[in-house]
Amino acid sequence: MEDLLLQLQDKKIVEDKQGEVYAGTSLMQNMEGKLFYIESYGCQMNFSDSEIVASILEQSGYKVTTNYHEADLVLINTCSIRDKAEQTVRNRLANFNLIKKDKPEMMIGVLGCMAERLKKKFLEEEKIVDIVVGPDAYRTLPKLVEEAETGQKAVNVLLSRDETYADIAPVRLDKNGVTGFISIMRGCDNMCSFCVVPFTRGRERSRDPFSIVQEAKELFAKGYREVTLLGQNVDSYKWKNEEETQSVNFAQLLERVAEVSPELRVRFSTSHPKDITDDVLFTMAKHENICNYIHLPVQSGSTEILEKMNRGYSREWYLGKVKRIREILPDCGLSTDIITGFCGETEEHHQDTLSLMEAVKFDMAYMFFYSERPGTLAARKYTDDVPEEVKRRRLSEVIQLQNKHSQWSNDQDKGKTFKVLVEKTSRKSTDDLCGRNDQNKMVVFPKSNHAVGEYVHVHIDNVTGATLIGKVNATV
Ligand code: SAH
Ligand code: SF4
Ligand code: F3S
Repeated sequence: MEDLLLQLQDKKIVEDKQGEVYAGTSLMQNMEGKLFYIESYGCQMNFSDSEIVASILEQSGYKVTTNYHEADLVLINTCSIRDKAEQTVRNRLANFNLIKKDKPEMMIGVLGCMAERLKKKFLEEEKIVDIVVGPDAYRTLPKLVEEAETGQKAVNVLLSRDETYADIAPVRLDKNGVTGFISIMRGCDNMCSFCVVPFTRGRERSRDPFSIVQEAKELFAKGYREVTLLGQNVDSYKWKNEEETQSVNFAQLLERVAEVSPELRVRFSTSHPKDITDDVLFTMAKHENICNYIHLPVQSGSTEILEKMNRGYSREWYLGKVKRIREILPDCGLSTDIITGFCGETEEHHQDTLSLMEAVKFDMAYMFFYSERPGTLAARKYTDDVPEEVKRRRLSEVIQLQNKHSQWSNDQDKGKTFKVLVEKTSRKSTDDLCGRNDQNKMVVFPKSNHAVGEYVHVHIDNVTGATLIGKVNATV
């Protein structure tokens, strides 16, 4: 663990003196009227970062387009979490390079975790992009585009110890105008052995609470009715002022955001089982507008595997946390992440995962088979020794069980009435609207005279494994 941290420091996680350099007027004129297109992969943090990138580019005179054929600058914000995620990005890059053949002036930039992981490789060895920018270097993007346009190699993959983009108002790209994400921290210090994130995102740092609350207020004033606070491990949020006389932890931050307005729902992701506190649970219980829903990735049900994963908790600790959550928040929705086929996973370990799932009955889960990531602790220390067909078979067993539990969980909701924030028209029928209940379940109901952004109470009379279906209850 320690030598990995040291290695991270060796990899030059340095303070990056970014900033002023690109704000000159010549650049502004240069970029005025140009169009950029941005496509995002990976976690919500990446989507949220793309909104910061859009803001930085718009300040330099660029305008966003959703049609990459007309773009002067095509950006792809990438994910390295599993090999498949990287392959998807490679296919997209091949596609963009085909367009570039007929339009050589079009600049292609790769952002995010793959940019950080592969650094100059894209530019020098593979020559499939013009610009490479890591997650902490987005402020330098306009300058890098300018450099690339003059034929220079434009790369900035410096990680920072303090960049949080706190002062940048994100341009909401995927807007329904009702729900928005707010990044509250960056990086991760946890070093789970399977995970590439600490290498691609650098050290954990927390954004100041004032700019977070301000962003929530601004969103509310624009008509947004739900914010999701984002971080790889929100429970370790900790902000201190420079003099270290004042500090704010996650429970306190949650409360401050909840107090913006009782009409603004607050969600958060991701919680870490080893760090989530009673304080957070009590804060959730105290504020009606903090949604009773926790995404609590377990990864495995075997203490032995959890130890190898360096997760910092055992099976019993996890089950104890779930019990505590249900004591304090009896109707709390719970979801998780599960990895099958991690190094050394036996059938018995796998059965432990299935039995933990039985014990908890998650409402929802994201499930993956293990994909070795170069440079991680697991890649260096353990053999990726579970054959792919075994990983896949175990994954399908996990998925099958989860489907059963999701159906069971939804069945329990028949006959109940939920407060739902209307998000959009249903994909299946324009006569229906949909939105989420507190527990993060999607609820579909007839449109009638209701509108996006309103709260409605829906009585559930039908369910599928993925959705609750009902009618707005006029009497509530
Ligand atoms: N910070 C979050 C997870 C971020 S990554 C947390 O700690 O829970 C999202 C999920 O991807 C992880 O929870 C894990 O289930 C999965 N994942 C991460 N690395 C993986 C790998 N190498 N192979 C397969 N799944 C992986
Ligand atoms: Fe990865 Fe673990 Fe950090 Fe989550 S907590 S991002 S799994 S290292
Ligand atoms: Fe992927 Fe990076 Fe997020 S690796 S999951 S985009 S932090």
